[in-house]
Amino acid sequence: MKVKINGKLYNGNTGETLMELAKRNNIYIPNLCHKKGFEGQGRCRLCIVEINDGGKTKIVSSCVYPIKDGIEVSTNSDKIIKIRKNIILLLLLRTPNNDTIKSLAKEYNVDIHYKYLDNKKKENCILCGLCVEACDKLGTKAISLVNRGTTKKVSTPYDDASKDCIGCAACVEVCPTDAISIDDKNGKRTIWNRTFNLVSCSICGKYFTTYEALKYTDDKLNIEKENQICNSCKRKEISKKFKESFKNTY
Ligand code: SF4
Ligand code: FES
Repeated sequence: MKVKINGKLYNGNTGETLMELAKRNNIYIPNLCHKKGFEGQGRCRLCIVEINDGGKTKIVSSCVYPIKDGIEVSTNSDKIIKIRKNIILLLLLRTPNNDTIKSLAKEYNVDIHYKYLDNKKKENCILCGLCVEACDKLGTKAISLVNRGTTKKVSTPYDDASKDCIGCAACVEVCPTDAISIDDKNGKRTIWNRTFNLVSCSICGKYFTTYEALKYTDDKLNIEKENQICNSCKRKEISKKFKESFKNTY
């Protein structure tokens, strides 16, 4: 499949989205909610591009738009830049002190008089829902998007410490704007109004997860209680074993 992006032809694969094709060819399209394992959310709308399909032009979100043979795509037309600036402006009004959004505003020269920005506002969440999606995918379903309009937010039921939360911090990992508060201190993790004891790695001694998260994965994968080894040490162990087996073969 041939797709023209910003005047240059690229070979696309069936089922690929425009964002995937662009990423594969190192073409930058700004985005906030396209993450590994969470592609095609269509939530932030920052990834919009203009396409020309047989003479008809339209604006689409590149992360959810499946490519078609012969389309022509512009990632940075005047129209796109104008709409993208407005999207960033709205994000900036919601989260005026967030570093990710501030740097996007700078990149796109989003100009707004300081009197419209509340420099005391602590909001960092852009309501993309990635954290909720991550929690759902795990099967824990401890958080959700609640309320409507200006009071919409991500929360545990009634803002209480959730009995379903395992403190794994998958939500923190995926959040594009570092909006989720997590505090790891003295072998304890506090997240979503609940404090967990942390497990330390039996090799390097670093705290790496909670007992609840470890038990949850062991039960889910139906494996005997795993050694308490952090991912970094696990990788080192695997590479050590691989090198040893390589040495023994040759
Ligand atoms: S907390 Fe982060 S991941 Fe969750 S909805 Fe808000 S911005 Fe998105
Ligand atoms: S990356 Fe496409 S809508 Fe967010």
